[in-house]
Amino acid sequence: MRLTRQLWISGAIIAALICALTPVQGFSQSVPLAQTPPMGWNDWYQYECTISDAIVRANADALVSTGMRAAGYTYISIDDCWQGKRDADGNIQPNGRFPDMKALADYVHSKGLKFGIYSSPGPKTCARYEGSYGHEEQDARTYARWGVDLLKYDWCSAAKVYKPEQMQAVYKKMGDALKRTGRPIVYSLCQYGLQAVWRWGASVGGNMWRTTDDIGGDYYRVSMFGFMQNGLAPYAGPGHWNDPDILQIGIGKLNHDEELTQMSLWCILAAPLQAGNDLAHMSKDTLAILTNLEVIAVDQDAKGVEGHRAWQEGPLEIWVKPLADGSKAVGLFNRGIGLLPITVRFQDIGLPESVQIRDLWARKDLGAFHGSYTATIPRHGAVMLKVK
Ligand code: GLA
Repeated sequence: MRLTRQLWISGAIIAALICALTPVQGFSQSVPLAQTPPMGWNDWYQYECTISDAIVRANADALVSTGMRAAGYTYISIDDCWQGKRDADGNIQPNGRFPDMKALADYVHSKGLKFGIYSSPGPKTCARYEGSYGHEEQDARTYARWGVDLLKYDWCSAAKVYKPEQMQAVYKKMGDALKRTGRPIVYSLCQYGLQAVWRWGASVGGNMWRTTDDIGGDYYRVSMFGFMQNGLAPYAGPGHWNDPDILQIGIGKLNHDEELTQMSLWCILAAPLQAGNDLAHMSKDTLAILTNLEVIAVDQDAKGVEGHRAWQEGPLEIWVKPLADGSKAVGLFNRGIGLLPITVRFQDIGLPESVQIRDLWARKDLGAFHGSYTATIPRHGAVMLKVK
């Protein structure tokens, strides 16, 4: 009898402790999201409005079978063009290419992946599909019911119904609605970097925000957007990241050296890594670039500091990102039109006079260097070093 009473009392104490330690706010409040830059896949540049349930499943399968999931890519995100009409109660329905969104999300989850979706605060998305205007709360609840883990929210036609000065409130409205669902949903702002979004994106609930217009195109567009990120580092950190848009690797408009440049720079920028290619039919070279674990580790580094341009001379640039273990990632870039030598003078970029260098693309320790290190880089190419 006494023993039963004692057991009962200890049980009550444990239960009280559990209650006290469990946050009363919604689930999402207690789950820190995007502590490192989100990694995954987004369909837009490869499929645009041909995207379908079957294509999403094929890419989810490939993300796993190619080893990309193991390398850290987890979000499978559908961009524009999935929406159909609203039903009589105003609930958004997918279009005929997506027979059952909940079943698709379940499938993505069954692969150990997360599921991303897209909408606009305007009446229409950029591709003129149904937006969330006037249905923000309802749509957030629908996404949570389907099992959505990331929402990209794209300004598009919102410009027709809102004044520019309402933009922050409009983004906060959906940010709050997502939080109220109680489901942890990464909130990805897409308004092309208008109104210096990096200054307020986190305050409206954003976990990442596009800092530029659409990146789709050749090396010149990718490099213009990538290299113009300099100066935005103070605004990025765990939970909230500058997003210079989707990786163009394996899509067909960049050559090998140009792809090395985008991957190196995006990792130094601590940018979200969203592959944009057809994962089921990529070359070995594309896969190797997307899954170099030492380069990805720079992006995902726990210190969460975005890198910056430390030196520039004509088309040659050196970028530096401090890492949690006290070492630095150093990216050397040749934006010129021919092969060029580039010399890193350690003191110029805040490094000690004597250092150990590892080449992250070659996966090779280069040894000890004193004063400087020189590499020769092809046109549009990059070298990625870890220096300690
Ligand atoms: C805008 C966005 C793109 C993409 C398209 C879809 O252009 O910036 O990233 O989402 O809309 O229509």
